Amino acid sequence: MLIRILGAAAGGGYPQWNCHCNGCETVRSGAATPLTQSSIAVQSEEDGSWFLINASPDVRQQIEAMRAEGCFNSHSGNRSLPFAGILLTDAEIDHTTGLILLRESTAPLNIYSTTTVKQALTSGYGILSTLQNYCGVKWAPITPGEIIQLTDELQVEAFALSTKAPKYIQSTEVEVWGIGLTIRDTTTNATLTYAPGMGSINTDLRQRFQNSDCILVDGTFWTNDELPSLGIGARTAKAMGHLPLSGDDGSLAQLANITTPRKIFVHINNTNPILIPNSPERQYVKNNGIEIGYDGLTIKL
Ligand code: MLT
Ligand code: MN
Ligand code: ZN
Repeated sequence: MLIRILGAAAGGGYPQWNCHCNGCETVRSGAATPLTQSSIAVQSEEDGSWFLINASPDVRQQIEAMRAEGCFNSHSGNRSLPFAGILLTDAEIDHTTGLILLRESTAPLNIYSTTTVKQALTSGYGILSTLQNYCGVKWAPITPGEIIQLTDELQVEAFALSTKAPKYIQSTEVEVWGIGLTIRDTTTNATLTYAPGMGSINTDLRQRFQNSDCILVDGTFWTNDELPSLGIGARTAKAMGHLPLSGDDGSLAQLANITTPRKIFVHINNTNPILIPNSPERQYVKNNGIEIGYDGLTIKL
């Protein structure tokens, strides 16, 4: 299977339109590379079909980048979508707003999500209901613990990852809002685990990471108080459902003894100093054997 990081930044992108943090200003000065918002795509090589995982507000630019790099080797001439399906890991604005931009598709969008996410995108942030009058939606459920056959070659298994609801949801009920995905190529047994919104790492998740050939992991914040300390937000990383990288119980320390061949941070917020070239934090991450994702990074498993 082929995996492509379409966007390695968290919501807002790098730079974010209204942000003047060190990172955003570094990009504007030309000294750091811009990043689009969180999304990946996975290709089943046997039949060539691509699946989009999360639809960011930058999806248009991301699809054109794929086209420019020859990812889509043929098109039918009509205006259908170059993805056989779209999988959603949550109902967050940065992972779903791109769906609206895909409304010009001549065929209904094949969308896979949990029922909780479907409900949120129908009545809370009504993207799925809006799309009904455009291209339409063919929805299929993803249930944690169940395996779905995407193609003859690719299987996906969802697992519960986060109980943090999107900000636009008022409910106080504790339910699974964020899932992670393990995608297995059944012809080679190569395994990818994608966990862009990860609040903690328990024994099961550690084992899942260990059993994968590549993991794409939540790299949102360096410290827990990153936004409050910069005066640009009240919520801590943990309150937002993101385990910070640094600290004794941070993701760097917890990933250190996991021997997965490729460990890559994605969903990296523009305030995270690992995005700044030559920063000590970036160097530290690399020295610890973890890669920092970037747009267009392609992994063949
Ligand atoms: C998140 O990753 O926590 C959300 O996308 C943040 C948000 O934009 O509400
Ligand atoms: Mn996000
Ligand atoms: Zn910024």
